[in-house]
Amino acid sequence: MIEFESVGKTFRDGTAAVVDLSLTAPSDKITVIVGPSGCGKTTTLRMVNRMIEPTSGAITWDGSPLNSMRKTTLRRQMGYVIQSGGLFPHRSVLDNIGTVPGLLGWSKAKTQQRALELLDAVGLDRKLGQRYPAQLSGGQQQRVGVARALAADPLVMLMDEPFSAVDPVVRSELHEFFLGLQRELSKTIILITHDIDEAVKLGDQVAILRVGGHLAQVGTPQELLDEPADAFVEGFVGRDRGYRSLQFLPAGNLGLERVKVVRDLEAARGHEPTLVVDADARPVGWADPEHPGQIFALGSTFSPESDTLRVALDSALTSPFGLAVAVDRGTGRYAGVVSAQTILGQVTEARASVVESISVRAAEADREAAGGATAITSTSTGPETEPPHAPTTLDETDPAVLVEQDDLEPPVDQDAAPGAADSERRT
Ligand SMILES: Nc1ncnc2c1ncn2[C@@H]1O[C@H](COP(=O)(O)OP(=O)(O)OP(=O)(O)O)[C@@H](O)[C@H]1O
Ligand SMILES: [Mg+2]
Repeated sequence: MIEFESVGKTFRDGTAAVVDLSLTAPSDKITVIVGPSGCGKTTTLRMVNRMIEPTSGAITWDGSPLNSMRKTTLRRQMGYVIQSGGLFPHRSVLDNIGTVPGLLGWSKAKTQQRALELLDAVGLDRKLGQRYPAQLSGGQQQRVGVARALAADPLVMLMDEPFSAVDPVVRSELHEFFLGLQRELSKTIILITHDIDEAVKLGDQVAILRVGGHLAQVGTPQELLDEPADAFVEGFVGRDRGYRSLQFLPAGNLGLERVKVVRDLEAARGHEPTLVVDADARPVGWADPEHPGQIFALGSTFSPESDTLRVALDSALTSPFGLAVAVDRGTGRYAGVVSAQTILGQVTEARASVVESISVRAAEADREAAGGATAITSTSTGPETEPPHAPTTLDETDPAVLVEQDDLEPPVDQDAAPGAADSERRT
């Protein structure tokens, strides 16, 4: 667990990049920090591996102040991934991945073996190990960056906009890969992005910063979408937050209905919605009632076992008849249909229970405040809240961070305000 306690960072020119930040990044979870450009995200992240020192407050790791630990020791336990992977252009992929094990004095054979295993772990062909970074696509480079950060099996991963340099399709693949990896590895991850969709998708917990490094709100993605603390957060999470919050509601409780199903398109007659399936009962499309023998595109389908109401509603909205087609997750076989109205009915019920729980919590908070109770557990500030999923993070270690900035002075934080040196010596 990494804890920021009233942390501030004012650079020497007077820029207050972070102001009074209190935030807990729980162990084995992904904490996403999101906010507009210049709001202090990178500064916050760099204070964790001490590339930058706070000018006020303290950061602890499992209860120990960071400034009581040697920077080298700290950084070797914290993988660091920067935008575009930050790979060394003149080193092969395998050598890039083996950077930290090399610094730690591992044998060549052991380092090579670890690098090859990591290529497997991040889903890259071992043959790519001999290439140089420029001979890889952007998405492949980001995977190598992650592999490099994971090389010495760090406890913590610090990731600064790790997926920003790739197109939306590759980015979405990397997200899935990253979440899968985190399910396996359970690292403590702090990930930065300025993309709220990425934050909501990846974060167990999301912290929103406003310019000047002020914490606007922290909570689970669902809490931010359901209960934005103020107009800034509401604006930041976007106008379609209602639609996006559907991704936290499972589609498993939707009652499926039946429609007419044919294998042979020619058998489709009349105006009732008729679904065409293939020989394995997988849906192919909808028969066009106006033009016998022709077929409408199927639209998207959903799987009740694993998908959410967002996917189900999208499926209904892309169907020519407003009917979402459910398929079996494993086989892809047709399982039934559900109308957009039914899905919206379930959304309405879910919203009602959210509103109820919000008002119950508000009433409890009022009561406790009135009674002078000790602590109010607000859903929007509790870092301990259980997130809806435990995604994966990858990290990479910047050797510059591990050696040069650690062992050579002056440190990266050349702009530390005058008070910084004192706070650094604090134990
Ligand atoms: N060395 C420095 N000296 C003075 N000001 C700095 C320094 N580094 C960063 N800043 C300022 O601190 C503020 C926060 O910068 P930071 O890099 O943390 O923002 P960010 O949220 O990561 O932005 P972006 O999304 O653009 O990467 C900015 O106003 C920036 O100009
Ligand atoms: Mg930044």
